[in-house]
Order: sequence, then structure tokens, then C-alpha cells
Amino acid sequence: MKYNIFNEDCIEGSKKHIKDNSIDLIITDPPYGINGDELHKHYARKEDYVMQGYVEIPLEEYGSFSHQWIKQAERILKPGGSIYIVSGYTNLYHILDALRTTSLKELNHIIWKYNFGVHTKKKFVSSHYHILYWVKPGKKHTFNTYIRYGPKEKNKQGRSLNYSDREDVWIINREYKPGKRKNKNELPYQLLKKMIRYSSNENDTVCDLFLGGFSTAIVSFGLNRNVIGFEKGTEIYSHGMKMMKSTKPGFLIDTIRKPKGSFPHNQGKPWTPEEKERLFMKYQMYYNKYGTKKDTINRLCEEFGRGRFSIKNQIDAIQKKNELSSKH
Ligand SMILES: C[S@@+](CC[C@H](N)C(=O)[O-])C[C@H]1O[C@@H](n2cnc3c(N)ncnc32)[C@H](O)[C@@H]1O
Repeated sequence: MKYNIFNEDCIEGSKKHIKDNSIDLIITDPPYGINGDELHKHYARKEDYVMQGYVEIPLEEYGSFSHQWIKQAERILKPGGSIYIVSGYTNLYHILDALRTTSLKELNHIIWKYNFGVHTKKKFVSSHYHILYWVKPGKKHTFNTYIRYGPKEKNKQGRSLNYSDREDVWIINREYKPGKRKNKNELPYQLLKKMIRYSSNENDTVCDLFLGGFSTAIVSFGLNRNVIGFEKGTEIYSHGMKMMKSTKPGFLIDTIRKPKGSFPHNQGKPWTPEEKERLFMKYQMYYNKYGTKKDTINRLCEEFGRGRFSIKNQIDAIQKKNELSSKH
């Protein structure tokens, strides 16, 4: 496992150091263009431990800045690679505008809800961020559907844990680190673990163009991913590099939740004509036995090692084909 981290501007730095189509996953949290270097005015926390030297982007440059770094992100991602961009709402439109001029495709617009001390009395309290999850077309993207919760795991109310974990509102609290030095707005490890594990595999390469407190780098390395990234602020960079040096690859592997139960082990594999034929035959057989489509599909999921949607889509397609051929 290796890491390459540069104290450079990410736009010029990525042109110099990162080849086209070479990155599996980008997770990044760009400066906000809202005087991020003065954020302490809004947040209820002691500033003594917050790292100085955060490099902010003037508002009037935010649009062109976003276009430039997102162009680089598009270039360096592998086909099928994913990008998660964390953004507040103030300049979100610039980021969306830039993304829409690329070949990247939107998969989800995630709302990350957290608790954090923003002082407001005469309006509602701001407690969410946006996470834009996009992919580069050209190959199937990595999405490890059952990496955290198995298909049959349920909570006390009987709701599927896998389904709730994959809803697009994430409630993950920020980590308070009293007495420890931190970057302004450091992302919680839980949030990073979730994105990294769903959208990459061990030995993949994860890039963060705006490292700040190095949280993406530390969690990625801790999950056995290679890391490449940039941080323009010199003091923040030096502090981050010290932490990286004492970070052991894979140190988080034992802390991750393993899914329970059986899996659709054939998920993602193409259906062969023989398998489709066998599926239809078995569908009729089990339907006669169980009498409902739902129970029949549940049985077939187990037998074919595939998810519900995959089985249902195949059956619907075969039924449609049969209907059409019986009409002619
Ligand atoms: C919002 S913070 C990132 C916080 C980070 N995700 C964390 O968990 O600590 C944005 C970071 O980007 C850095 N930055 C600003 N402009 C940059 C540029 N052109 N290239 C690289 N880093 C930059 C800032 O100094 C700041 O540390």
C-alpha cells in the first residue's frame, strides 16, 4: 500500500502527477468560497485547536475554480470510477454547473445530516451538507451493495438494514475531538468509511484533491487503499504528513462491520441463456408450489444467488417475450 501526497495546488499538481484514467475513487471536500478561513465566527467551538492556514477561494473565482478542478477529476478517474463531492449549499450551484459540463453521470444527490453547533436564533438551524455522487461512464462502476449489511438483516421494527443504509439521507454526526488539533470541518471517519467501502475495493487508489485534515487519506489507507492527494496549506500539510507517517495500512480493517447472512453471490455476473431458461422453468415450478410471486422470487434469489430486482427483471423480460411470441 502506498501514498503520494503533495503540498501543491491540486489543479496544477494533478496535471503533473496523475495520469489520465488512473484513479478508482475520488472523495473530496473543496473549500467553500464563503470565507472558510473565518468559519469560527459561526461555529460554537474553541478555535485554539483548529489548524491555521486553510486556503480559501474568493467567491468571484469559485465558478472558474470549480470548472478547472472538476475537469481534472474527470480526466484522472478511470472509466467506471466514482467521485463523491461534499459541498455546502451556498456554492453548490457552481459545482453542479461544472459537473454538468463533463462526461460524468449523476448517481445520487445525498444529504448528509449532522449535528454541529451553528448559532442561529432568527432562522432554522443549518444541519446538512450535500454529497454529489457521480461516476465516469465507460465501464461498470464499483458498488458493493452488501459490503455493510446483508440482504436479510433487519432492525427491531423489521426494516431492512441494507435498504436504510442505502437511502440517500445519511445521519452521521461530526466527531468532536476535544484537545486534539484538527482541520476546520474535518469529515467524520464514519462518513468516509461508508463512501470508500461502497465504492472501492482493497488495493484500489483513492484520491482527495483537497485533503485538509487528511481524513480521506487516513481512512483510505486504514482500509488498505492506495492514496494520492493534495493540500495547498503548508502548515496543514506538514501536520497531515506527520499523521500519515504514523498511520499503518489496514489499521481500520478490524473495526469495520461485516455483513451477516447469505449473499447474492452471482450479483453483477451476466445472465447466460441457459441460466435464463432454467430460471423460467423454476419460476413456474415454485409459483405452482408457493402461489405468490413474492415468495417465488425469494426462493429464486437463494437458488440463483442473485438479488430480487435482478430475478424480477429477468422474469418480467421472459414473460414479455413469451407474450409477444404467442401473439405472432
Ligand atoms: C474543506 S477543507 C477539506 C477538509 C477535509 N475534507 C478534512 O476532512 O479535513 C478544504 C481544504 O482544501 C485546501 N485547498 C484550498 N485550495 C486548494 C487547492 N487549490 N489545492 C489543494 N488544496 C486546496 C484548503 O487549505 C483546505 O484545507
